[in-house]
Amino acid sequence: MDSRGGFTSRIGFILAAAGSAVGLGNIWKFPYETGQNGGAAFLVIYLALTFLLCYPVMVGEIAIGRKAGLDAYGSYNKLGGKRWGYLGLYGIICGIMILSFYNVVAGWAFGYFLEISFSDLLEEQNYGVYFGRYVVDFWDNLIFSLCFMVITAFIVIKGVQKGIERASKIMMPTLFVILVALIIYSITLPNAMDGIRFYLLPDFSEITLETLYSAMGQAFFSLSLGMGALITYGSYVSKNQNVLKSAATITLLDISVAFLAGLLIFPLVFSQGQSPEQGPALVFVVLPGIFQTMGPVLGKIVGGGFFLLLCFAALTSTISLLEVPVAYFVDEKKIPRKISVWTLATLVFILGLPSMLSQGAVGAFSSLSFYQEKSTLDFVSEVFSDISLPLGGCLMTFFIATRWGTHKMSEELSQGNPNYKGSFYEGYINFTIRYICPVLLGIFSLLIIIDKFFGLEQLR
Ligand code: PFF
Repeated sequence: MDSRGGFTSRIGFILAAAGSAVGLGNIWKFPYETGQNGGAAFLVIYLALTFLLCYPVMVGEIAIGRKAGLDAYGSYNKLGGKRWGYLGLYGIICGIMILSFYNVVAGWAFGYFLEISFSDLLEEQNYGVYFGRYVVDFWDNLIFSLCFMVITAFIVIKGVQKGIERASKIMMPTLFVILVALIIYSITLPNAMDGIRFYLLPDFSEITLETLYSAMGQAFFSLSLGMGALITYGSYVSKNQNVLKSAATITLLDISVAFLAGLLIFPLVFSQGQSPEQGPALVFVVLPGIFQTMGPVLGKIVGGGFFLLLCFAALTSTISLLEVPVAYFVDEKKIPRKISVWTLATLVFILGLPSMLSQGAVGAFSSLSFYQEKSTLDFVSEVFSDISLPLGGCLMTFFIATRWGTHKMSEELSQGNPNYKGSFYEGYINFTIRYICPVLLGIFSLLIIIDKFFGLEQLR
């Protein structure tokens, strides 16, 4: 590997990219989006979109990054010229903004870990009320999310091999094991089967336009697509890796964790007589309930362990979110890694303050008059992830279709996969990237924008 560093093994890359994909998106966002959008019907659409649209987008992103061997901006610039470089910058800006609110939610998870393990959170009577109080506490939130940002920065400074790869190798498998153990416990609770039914038996009459594009936004967010994160990670991948296989593994790992999170949360929601539609508070309200039933000692151990792992999952994602702009500063501006990391971490943290204060602490941030009275956190998350990531995916596939060329992508993808050319997979990837993704993602993006800003009530 050259001096930019790189992943030392296939499994190292897969775990790091899966670490980027698996995060709060799977365990925090996926269950509440599913709960708000009709349960199983949402799950079915989410899975279909992931296989049909997202997998080819992921393959395309990794191919661009590995071919160019640069950050998101540099990669588009090298393969498509300066004007396409702006698409890389677009992704970098999305990364910065997503990280700004993501870090706030990661701070909540970190706070819950501390409160369960070292304080008396498990003695609370009403976790809905507790969460409401918790998110308006400015100093707690400030300190916890600051800690999170500092830890992220330290790992990113270490670079690809020592920091990112090593951290992911330990954290990912542990998370999987603890999730499965908790599911086995949760489905034995009373009324758990109602939750399973809600989650697994689809009622397609529930589907609206909003279900469709929420599933699309969620799929892109969860797989870390549409903003160049996988271009950046792809740039560290060696030429003898089979990109198709790696992308399939990453996608399957990501889907599995989201699916398992749902399988854990919905039985709990129903066994505690809660509403599945309570939005971002969902896991923070429902999960402590299960830990409480385990008794004070076991509850502390399992509950603390769970939130610690949630923090790890979030950390492997914040690392990749920060790595996108850092790689740009290092590759394009030749700014030393350490300075790039601290500058960007500070900037992101400051940009996140309005989101942090938007859960009731400061009225002006909590209810935006120009955005349906939603909070700043909702606004940033919807604009820079739900809207911008599918749009970024649309433009990325448009770039391959019209500028770089699917034949050049095939060339790149056959490195490490000699039988690729002429195979069914080549036909499938090329066809989706050339025709389906740009058109469908374009239409969806347009509909989301119109709906979010002007309302599309008549299409509901
Ligand atoms: N995929 C991450 C999650 O599901 O939590 C979030 C994310 C990470 C989005 C990295 C985008 C990204 F580039």
